[in-house]
Amino acid sequence: MPARPVEFSPELISLLRGGPKVVALTGAGVSQESGLRTFRDAQTGLWAQYKPTELASPEAFQRDPKLVWDWYAWRREAVKGVRPNPGHYALVEIEQRLPHFTLITQNVDNLHRFAGSQNVLELHGNIQRVRCADCYTFTETWDDDTESVPRCRVCNGLLRPDVVWFGESLPRDQLEAAVTAARSCDVFFSIGTSGVVQPAASLAFAAHNRGAVVVEINAEPTPLTPKADYVFEGKSGELLPELVEAIWG
Ligand code: APR
Repeated sequence: MPARPVEFSPELISLLRGGPKVVALTGAGVSQESGLRTFRDAQTGLWAQYKPTELASPEAFQRDPKLVWDWYAWRREAVKGVRPNPGHYALVEIEQRLPHFTLITQNVDNLHRFAGSQNVLELHGNIQRVRCADCYTFTETWDDDTESVPRCRVCNGLLRPDVVWFGESLPRDQLEAAVTAARSCDVFFSIGTSGVVQPAASLAFAAHNRGAVVVEINAEPTPLTPKADYVFEGKSGELLPELVEAIWG
């Protein structure tokens, strides 16, 4: 028997029908139904199997650049093998129907853009982009021989994925735009994120402190749950299409 659709409160529905300024922050949970592993889900999360300090830090790249390069090459192939899910497409529809919508993502999988989202801020970079670790030159192509990490054609530096590693600062333009959007929105959605990684995890609180209505959609409670005005526990690929249907169906 299909699960009973979630009841979205009439207050929330009429608020969203009023065309408020909306921000949505997403995390790995949004891509879970596309077949991509999250980071911290017990057993299935990437960090249950791999040590972030060994693979996602500048020190790790210093120590063993080939190991890190190969791991991101493996993740890049995994991303190429999946497609956006109904949760991604529901966020595209919300963007198309609201006058002011900003999508802030911690995901590096490019699935929001692939689904058609336009106003996307990538806080942690994008795994599809590759750049030089020294001179920052971006490149679309590189020699992928198996022996060593490909090199920059400009300065011969090592190439690396354009993602933010632990201990690295976030891209300033993306972070500043995200903070501004969070501080000036009427409704802030936190979707598919455990809310433990800063500074992304502080955005919902910044919005809350400015009087925004905070809505959490997540498979399990997070540190944000007690502060949220509305909490919908479940799968974003099911709940977001239901929300769109409830607002504009
Ligand atoms: N729908 C909604 N929520 C889900 C789903 C789903 N289908 N599947 C899992 N979740 C929830 C989990 O319960 C968890 O709370 O998504 C959250 C994913 O949390 P993390 O794995 O910690 O991912 P995220 O919050 O995006 O991590 C933040 O940490 O490792 C770094 O840079 C990496 O961007 C990442 C950052």
